[in-house]
Amino acid sequence: MAGSKPPLHGPRYAQITGWGMAVPEKVMTNADLARTVDTNDEWIVSHTGIKERHVAGDKETTFTLAVRAAREALLVASLQPSRLDLVIVATVTPEYFFPSTACLVQDAIGAAYAGAYDLSAGCSGFIYALNQAANAVRSGSAEHVLVIGSETLSRFVDWTDRNTCVLFGDGAGAVVVSACAERCGIMASVLGSDGSGGDLLIVPGGGSHSPPSHEMLDRGDQYCKMNGREVYRFAATIMPRATEAAVHKAGWQLADLSLIIPHQANARIIDAAIKRLNLPSDRFFVNIDRYGNTSSASIPIALCEAIAAGRVNQGDRMVLVGFGAGLTWAAVAVEWGVPEPTKPRPWFIRWVAEIWYFLAGIRSVARRTERHLYDRVMGPEGADGVRGDLRQRTDRMRIRIAGSTQRPAQPKPQKNLPAPPPAPAPPKQDPPDGDHGSTPPK
Ligand code: UT7
Repeated sequence: MAGSKPPLHGPRYAQITGWGMAVPEKVMTNADLARTVDTNDEWIVSHTGIKERHVAGDKETTFTLAVRAAREALLVASLQPSRLDLVIVATVTPEYFFPSTACLVQDAIGAAYAGAYDLSAGCSGFIYALNQAANAVRSGSAEHVLVIGSETLSRFVDWTDRNTCVLFGDGAGAVVVSACAERCGIMASVLGSDGSGGDLLIVPGGGSHSPPSHEMLDRGDQYCKMNGREVYRFAATIMPRATEAAVHKAGWQLADLSLIIPHQANARIIDAAIKRLNLPSDRFFVNIDRYGNTSSASIPIALCEAIAAGRVNQGDRMVLVGFGAGLTWAAVAVEWGVPEPTKPRPWFIRWVAEIWYFLAGIRSVARRTERHLYDRVMGPEGADGVRGDLRQRTDRMRIRIAGSTQRPAQPKPQKNLPAPPPAPAPPKQDPPDGDHGSTPPK
C-alpha cells in the first residue's frame, strides 16, 4: 500500500496510503438536545443539516480517539508505526496544553523514531497538517507521516448555549502520507488566515490572556463563543475561493474534480459553495447530518466515509477544503493514487497489530518506570546520567533515520606530532570594588 519506493534523486510525491476514523459510541440526537436546551429538531435540521452527533464518554478523550483513528490508518497503509518519521495532530481541543497530544499518540502506538507535534489552525487544522506532511515527504525529510485530526468539542461547549451546543460533535480521523515515485497524491495546497476575525470564534479563557480563575469560570469563558452569522458569511465566501485557488494551483479545471470534501460545519454553507462553484451537488461529500461539526476531524472522517462508499477511485481528482477559527482557511488538491479499494485486513494482521500496541504499552511503562526508579534510587545526579545516556541513544537513532550514519567529526590523534601547547591561562582580572567573588570577606 505504501506505493512504489521513490527515487533518491528525482521527483518525489506525497500520497495518502492509509486512512481511519473513530467516533465515540454515544450518539446525541436533536431530540435529546431539545430535552435540555430551548431548541428543536426542525430548527437544527433546517438551519444546519445536523440530525445527530457523537459525544465522548467519560473515558474518551482527544487522545484516545486519535489513537483509534491512527491505528486504523496504519492498518490500511500496512505500515509499522516504527517506520513513521512524524506524527502531527491537528486539534483545538488537545488532551493538555502540554505535552502535545501528538506525543501521547507517538508513545501509545510505539512510533519510536517519529517527531511529534500538535497543530492549531481551527477547523482548517487537518488541511494545514496535510500540507506540512506533504512538504516533509516531498522534500525528503520524511518517508511516512501520520496526520490526525481529533477533537472533543463537547468538553468546550456550554451545554446551555443553544447557539453553539447544537453544532458540534466529537471524533477523529487520520491518514498516513507516504513518499511515492508516481505522479499522484497531494498536488497543491492553499493556506490562508485573517487574524482580525479571531474574536468571531473563540474560547476566551484558560490561556495566558485570561488564565484559569474563579472569575473566568463564572463568566463561562472556558467555553466556545461564536458570532455565527459572521462566521457563516466568511465561510460561504472563502470555501469556493479556496477550492478554486487549489484547483488553479494544481493546473486543473473545476470540471476535472470528481469529488469535493468540504469541512462539515453547516449544510447551508456547503450549498452556498455548490451554487458559487456551479458544480453538480453530487460532487460534494456531505455527512454532517450524522456527526455535526467535528472541527479538524470533519474532513478526514468524511474522506474515510467517501472511500468506504466507493466515491474515491484511482486517478480521481479531488479537493479537500476547510475553514475555521483564526480565522483560517485551507484547501489541498489530491490526485488519488491508491489502486483499488482496500479489503478489510485479515484477522491475523489485526492480531499482529494488537501485539505491537501491547508491546508499545509495555515499552512506555518500562520507560516511565526507569525514570521513576532512577529519580528515587539515584537522586537527581544519577537520573541526569541516565537521561544523558537516553539522549545519546535517541540522537544516534535520529542520525540513522535521517539516512546518515555520520557521527560528529572527532579530532583524530595525529601521530609523530608534538603535543599541542597548553592553552594560555585567561588574564586575571581584579574584581570590581566591593566584589570578592566567592571568597568570603576576611
Ligand atoms: O467550523 C466553523 C464553525 N462555525 C460555523 O461554521 C458556524 C457558521 N454559522 C452558522 O452555521 C449559522 O450562523 C448558525 C447555524 C450558527 C446559526 O444560523 P443562523 O441562520 O445564522 O441563525 P441566527 O444566529 O441568525 O439566529 C436566528 C434565530 C435567533 O432568534 P431571533 O433572535 O431571531 O429570535 C436565534 O436566537 O434562531 C435562534 N436560534 C435558535 N433557535 C432554536 C439560534 N440557535 C437556535 C437553536 N434552536 N439551536
